[in-house]
Amino acid sequence: MRKIVINGGRSLKGRVTVSGAKNSVVALIPAIILADGIVTLDGVPAISDVDSLIDIMETMGATVTRQGETLEIDPRGVQDMPMPFGKINSLRASYYFYGSLLGRFGQAVVGLPGGCDLGPRPIDLHLKAFEAMGARVTYEGQNMRLSTEGQRIHGAHIYMDTVSVGATINTILAAVKAEGRTVIENAAREPEIIDVATLLNNMGARIRGAGTDIITIDGVENLHGTRHQVIPDRIEAGTYIALAAAVGEGIQIDNVLYEHLESYIAKLEEMGVRMTVSEDAVFVEKQDKLKAVSIKTSPYPGFATDLQQPITPLLLKATGSGYITDTIYEKRVGHVQELANLGADIQTRGNRIAYKGPSHLRGTAVKATDLRAGAAMVIAGLMAEGRTEITNIEFILRGYSNIIEKLTELGADIQLVEE
Ligand code: UD1
Repeated sequence: MRKIVINGGRSLKGRVTVSGAKNSVVALIPAIILADGIVTLDGVPAISDVDSLIDIMETMGATVTRQGETLEIDPRGVQDMPMPFGKINSLRASYYFYGSLLGRFGQAVVGLPGGCDLGPRPIDLHLKAFEAMGARVTYEGQNMRLSTEGQRIHGAHIYMDTVSVGATINTILAAVKAEGRTVIENAAREPEIIDVATLLNNMGARIRGAGTDIITIDGVENLHGTRHQVIPDRIEAGTYIALAAAVGEGIQIDNVLYEHLESYIAKLEEMGVRMTVSEDAVFVEKQDKLKAVSIKTSPYPGFATDLQQPITPLLLKATGSGYITDTIYEKRVGHVQELANLGADIQTRGNRIAYKGPSHLRGTAVKATDLRAGAAMVIAGLMAEGRTEITNIEFILRGYSNIIEKLTELGADIQLVEE
């Protein structure tokens, strides 16, 4: 068993650089299946989700070379083969193989997606879009088969009932080589969608409107190789900003695109967090008094659900009480009990989280119940007096590149311990 051990209560300072975006790269890698040449990605984070994706790509026949943050993928050898559940179920984003395999081969047999348990995470919108484009969906145990029965997948007019990042990207993946035009209405507007569209357009696709709620895709016959820089991870950036405000004595976070974090930074300002935002960095000062605020998550450009958990330990430092309402994933509350175990005054009330600060946290044994709850445990462990041991850290390593090294560099007493 591996765990993270933190001796908390120390002040951190220095600089930390944000890596490439996890939620982009988990879509960019499957997207490369659609290319007829070599695609190079720069700024690829060192996270276990990327290791899993590389493994899957190699199993399917792609040639992959990885050097530092650069990943070169030649997808020309990819075979039309099943990717069953056992191989794929640790990844939520394995669903992107549906869109990319459907786009390339007109069929796919892929295991149902796994990933963090944040309550119900259906993929009905993805499937409705594929069906509208001419695919037939059938279940075979824990696998799903998509097939166009020899026909080329065709364009369609798709209205998304709910704003969904995954369904928007998956529809784009299936549509770029389809016959005719696809229009997605009520599309998600997350920066990762723009990143995927940029890669595909540089491969020769014809996608317009990514970043707005209407995306139009005109199908093309072939896509060629290209080189692409992955955007910075706004969730990792937001995590380090919260951490810096919680335990920092002056921390600069580099490689941050401020415009991807506007609603988050506005909320921190409302709390009274003192920081300086420049072109691609945020400098967070040592904080004195913070004000409690309430948070409600919503699709981009609203407050990101993925930052709700990482900001919670910082809220516990503030004076007063507030609520957190997650409108995307109501059951995303795994961090609440663990923070209470560390001594926080926090509980789940109905479909929201209620907290009262300031709390004095004391180190104890906690677990990472999911990826972003794990980030919350790391921040809380740094804030807490004494020793905090975090188990289930595989979740954290799925999404935070070199987290132990980055925090050690800032002066944290943190170790990954194998038992
Ligand atoms: C992505 C992110 C995840 C983030 C989430 C919301 C990746 C790999 N993951 O997940 O980190 O927390 O966006 O910003 O990018 N829904 C349906 N039917 C569907 C699909 C979604 O009802 O077919 C619902 C979901 O239950 C949820 C909402 O739509 O309530 C948004 O989910 P979605 O944007 O699809 O999340 P993911 O793409 O899975």
